Amino acid sequence: MTNRQWLLSERPIGMVSEKNFSLMESAMPVPDAAKGEVLIKNLMLSFDPAMRGWMDDKPSYLPPVAINEAMRAAGIGQVIESSNPDLPKGTLVQGMVGWQEYLTAGPQSMFPPNALPEGTPPNIALSVLGGTSLTAYFGLLRIGEPKAGDTVVVSGAAGATGSAAAQIAKIKGCKVIGIAGGKEKCDWLLNAGLDAVVDYKSENISQRLAELCPDGINIFFDNVGGDALEAAIENAADNARFILCGSISNYNDASPKPGPKNMFYLIAKRIRMQGFIMFDYIEEVDVAMADLIQWLTDGKLQWREDIQEGFENIPKTLLRLFDGSNQGKQLLKLADPE
Ligand SMILES: NC(=O)c1ccc[n+]([C@@H]2O[C@H](COP(=O)([O-])OP(=O)(O)OC[C@H]3O[C@@H](n4cnc5c(N)ncnc54)[C@H](OP(=O)(O)O)[C@@H]3O)[C@@H](O)[C@H]2O)c1
Repeated sequence: MTNRQWLLSERPIGMVSEKNFSLMESAMPVPDAAKGEVLIKNLMLSFDPAMRGWMDDKPSYLPPVAINEAMRAAGIGQVIESSNPDLPKGTLVQGMVGWQEYLTAGPQSMFPPNALPEGTPPNIALSVLGGTSLTAYFGLLRIGEPKAGDTVVVSGAAGATGSAAAQIAKIKGCKVIGIAGGKEKCDWLLNAGLDAVVDYKSENISQRLAELCPDGINIFFDNVGGDALEAAIENAADNARFILCGSISNYNDASPKPGPKNMFYLIAKRIRMQGFIMFDYIEEVDVAMADLIQWLTDGKLQWREDIQEGFENIPKTLLRLFDGSNQGKQLLKLADPE
C-alpha cells in the first residue's frame, strides 16, 4: 500500500498557483506505537486563507511549511490502525492532517472533536461547527463586545467566518451590513437575515457605508483589509471597535501595499483596533460550541459548504478562496468514514 502527498515544492511569489505544489507517492507511514501513534486515513480537508501565509518563509504565529513537506492543512481523519486505547480504531480525529491520504500522529496533535455532539459528520465539524465559526464567535463577542442596537459591518461577509460573524451580530440584536463580492453572495446574505449588503465589485464601499450607516459604524469585523478597511475607518462612529480577523485582499501581494491612508481617524474617533488568532481563546471552546450548537438547533445560523472531491484537485481547491469562487466553507472530501 502506498501513500500520496501534495508537497510544497516552491514558495509562491505573488498569487499562489498549482505549480507551487508537487504530487509524491511514498510508502505507507508506520506509526510508532511506543509514542502512542496511530495510523490515520484522511477523510476531509479544510481550506483556509491562512494557508497562503504558511507558505511564506516569514515569522508568524505558526512556523512556515518547509520546502518538500506535505502542505499543512486542518481536517478530519479516521484512525485505521491503533494500539493506543485513547485513540481506538474507528475514532474520528481532528487536527492538522495535511495534504496526504494517510498520516501517523499521536494524541498530542490529533484529538477527537470532543465538544461536538456524537456522530457530527466531518463536513459540519469543519464548517458551521468548525474553526471559522469559533473565530467569528470569539472575534465578535470578545473583542467587538456588541450591544443591541450597534451598527456592525462585516467584510468577506458571505464566507465561512464572515457569515457566522454577521449572523451572531444579528442574534445579539445589532444592525448588520455585509460586504461581499457579487449579487449571488449578497442575495444569500439578505436571505440569511442581514439588514443590508454592499457588493464591493459593483458599488463604492465608502459611499454605500455612508448611506447605510448614518450614525457611523460601531463594530467592523474585517476579513479583507485594503479598501474595505479604509472605507470602514472613513465611516466609523466614535469609540468604534475594529476586529482585525483577516486581510485576504493582500495575502497574495508580492510586496505589501501601503496601508489605509486615513489612520488619523483612529485618534480623532477614538477607534480601538485589535487583531487576534482563534487559538487565543482555545480554553473557551466548550462555551462557544454550546452557543453555536444552540443557535444551530434554533435555526438562527445558516451556512454554506463548498465540498470539492478528489485528491488530485487539492491544490486547485485552495485557489478558489482567492478568486472568490467558493460558496461558503471550502472543503474537499477524500473518503467517507467507515
Ligand atoms: N484570526 C483568525 O484566527 C482567523 C481564523 C480563520 C479565518 N481568518 C480569516 O478570516 C478570513 C475569511 O476566511 P474564511 O476561511 O472564512 O474564508 P472565506 O471567507 O470562506 O473565503 C474567502 C473569501 O474571501 C473573499 N476574497 C478573496 N480574495 C479577495 C480580495 N482580493 N478582496 C476581497 N475579498 C476577497 C472572497 O469572497 P468574495 O467573493 O465576497 O470576494 C472569498 O470567497 C480570512 O482573511 C482568514 O485569514 C482568521
